Amino acid sequence: MSVGSVRVELSERSYDVRVGDGALGDSAGALRRLAERGATRVFVVRDTGVPGVHLDTVLDGARGCGLEPTVAEVTPSESVKSLGTYHELLESIAGSGHTRSDPVVALGGGIVGDLGGFVAASYLRGVPVVQCPTTLLAMVDASVGGKTGFNLSVGDRLLKNYVGAFHQPVMVCADVGVLGSLGDRYLRSGLAECIKHACIARTAGHEDLVEWTREHVGRAGDRDIGVLTELVRRNVALKASIVALDEREDPSAKAGGRMLLNLGHTFGHAIETIGSLTPTGDPADAPLHHGEAIGLGLIAAFAAAESMGMVDSELTGSVRSMIEDAGLPVCVVGLPEDGELVARMRRDKKSSGGSLRLVLPDGEGSCVIVNEAPESAAIAGICAIRG
Ligand SMILES: NC(=O)c1ccc[n+]([C@@H]2O[C@H](COP(=O)([O-])OP(=O)(O)OC[C@H]3O[C@@H](n4cnc5c(N)ncnc54)[C@H](O)[C@@H]3O)[C@@H](O)[C@H]2O)c1
Repeated sequence: MSVGSVRVELSERSYDVRVGDGALGDSAGALRRLAERGATRVFVVRDTGVPGVHLDTVLDGARGCGLEPTVAEVTPSESVKSLGTYHELLESIAGSGHTRSDPVVALGGGIVGDLGGFVAASYLRGVPVVQCPTTLLAMVDASVGGKTGFNLSVGDRLLKNYVGAFHQPVMVCADVGVLGSLGDRYLRSGLAECIKHACIARTAGHEDLVEWTREHVGRAGDRDIGVLTELVRRNVALKASIVALDEREDPSAKAGGRMLLNLGHTFGHAIETIGSLTPTGDPADAPLHHGEAIGLGLIAAFAAAESMGMVDSELTGSVRSMIEDAGLPVCVVGLPEDGELVARMRRDKKSSGGSLRLVLPDGEGSCVIVNEAPESAAIAGICAIRG
């Protein structure tokens, strides 16, 4: 087993992301340091999809440091990433007698990471959190950078990630061995965020990630541990460098900062929240998974940029091919009409005052923020993914 570290440099909030086969065991090291500073308990938010053997690794490590664990289980879905679940978790952590010195461990995919992270951010005005991501998407994206939160339901609308806080973990343990039990569709979803990273890599100073991703993205589904470790390591390194420059998504950050990570997301969020959409047209496959929506959002963003003369059709085609090679959908059946989708995009929390603020590509591996994109560009994007 070989486990390495990527450092997220944030002065006194800096931390290591441990990456490799067996990295989950390193959670014990983080818990031990907290125990030495007075922790006596640990609150583990466990994704019910994660096999018990991985929960045992965390619990054995905690008990080995003398920490008394309480486990709260979450069966993830976007509707479960809600105020109701947050409230239940708060009641559970408070009921366990958890104090300010005691940590939270979030063991699961992006939904459990967001919920567990927000409990840690807000309970007693903040307790330490160890993020133990168990999906590819959570390893390469959600667990790194400190964004936490949940969705709001207003009327019949699901408002993605409308409540949240920045709360950096004390350690992230990205154990690629844990991906062995993850379903193929979820593994592919994680690849969408990796392709997004390749599309911003040059702007973020990781130029070699563009070519590396093109060469390896089609092979990730073979689940070779070496390829997965390198995939996670390279993607975490990109995310860590963006977060280090712009921890809190400052709108005035140089060259876009964290905002760049939203490439494809304004389109993606607009379709992800339509629960009836499927990648295949078969209702049994609804809803779209987050990564599938982001993959479609990337195609839409490139088509929108092409309509504005920012990129050529060859580049749009090559990104579409990467998404196809990763086994992700490139179009979706049953989209509402253009006007409704544009209205949804204007309501996205990344938009500004109802204008269409989009991250759009302006070259290979290079993106910019367009503050007032024309509606015609958004419609060109939607047309490109309409099945
Ligand atoms: N905070 C951030 O910066 C950030 C970034 C990107 C995405 N997100 C959020 O992440 C969420 C999506 O995360 P996701 O794609 O991980 O989905 P998810 O959390 O829904 O997990 C996917 C599925 O995999 C199961 N699972 C998890 N680990 C497993 C394992 N090792 N073996 C078997 N099954 C396992 C889960 O039970 C679930 O059914 C979205 O809500 C998105 O908004 C957050």
